[in-house]
Amino acid sequence: MEKDYVEELVMRSDGISYEIRESVYREMCHGITVSNYAREVAKELGKEGDFLKDIEIAGLLHDIGKIRLNKYLEGTYVTKLIVERITYVRQHTFYSKEILEEKGYKKEICDAVFHHHENCDGSGYPYGIFAKDIPEMAKILRVCDVFTALSSDRPYRSAFDKQMALEMMIDEISSYDMESFLAFQRFYHSDRFKDFEPLNIKINDTQKEHLKRFMDEVESA
Ligand SMILES: [Fe+2]
Ligand SMILES: [Fe+2]
Repeated sequence: MEKDYVEELVMRSDGISYEIRESVYREMCHGITVSNYAREVAKELGKEGDFLKDIEIAGLLHDIGKIRLNKYLEGTYVTKLIVERITYVRQHTFYSKEILEEKGYKKEICDAVFHHHENCDGSGYPYGIFAKDIPEMAKILRVCDVFTALSSDRPYRSAFDKQMALEMMIDEISSYDMESFLAFQRFYHSDRFKDFEPLNIKINDTQKEHLKRFMDEVESA
C-alpha cells in the first residue's frame, strides 16, 4: 500500500522524535493529496506537459517550509500565545521557497509555492496581492490546499465532511480563482475523484523522487 511507502520513508531516519515523525508524516500525506488534486484540476483546465509536472511537484512540496519552521517553534506550543504561533506559521511560505531555491527547483515552482496562501481578493499572504498578480499555479494550489485541509483531520479538529468543505469554500468564494474553483468542482464530481482520496493515496514515481526532500530537510535541521 502506498501509505506504507510514506511510513517507511519517515521511519528510515534515526534520532528523530515521535512528534517530528508524526508531523512530517502528516505533511507528506497532505502534500501528496494536494499534488494529486492540483494535477487533476490543471488537466481539467486543459494544461499539459511541463505545467502538469511542475504543479505536481509544487503541490507535493508547498508546505515543506513547515519542517524548517518546526525548529524555531519547538517549545513554543505551550508557552507562547496561539496568535503568536499563527504569525510564525505564516512564515512557512518563505521557508518553502527558500528550501526549493536551495535545491535548484525552477522559478515557476518556487513562485507557486511562495504564493500558495494568496487570495484573489487580496486577503491572503505573504504579500496580499490580488488575482491578476498571483501566479496561475498558485491559484490552483490554493483551492486544492484549502479543500484538502478542511476535509482532513487536524491536530485541533476533526475533518469536515467533503460537501461541507465545499460549501464553506463557496461562502468565501472571493478568495478563490473562479476558473480553478469550477475546475475543482468538475473534478470533485467526476469518477476520477475517488481515485485520489487521502485514505486511498496514490504516489507516482515523480512524487516518490521529490518526497525525499522532506527527509533531507528533517535531517539537515
Ligand atoms: Fe501552506
Ligand atoms: Fe498546505
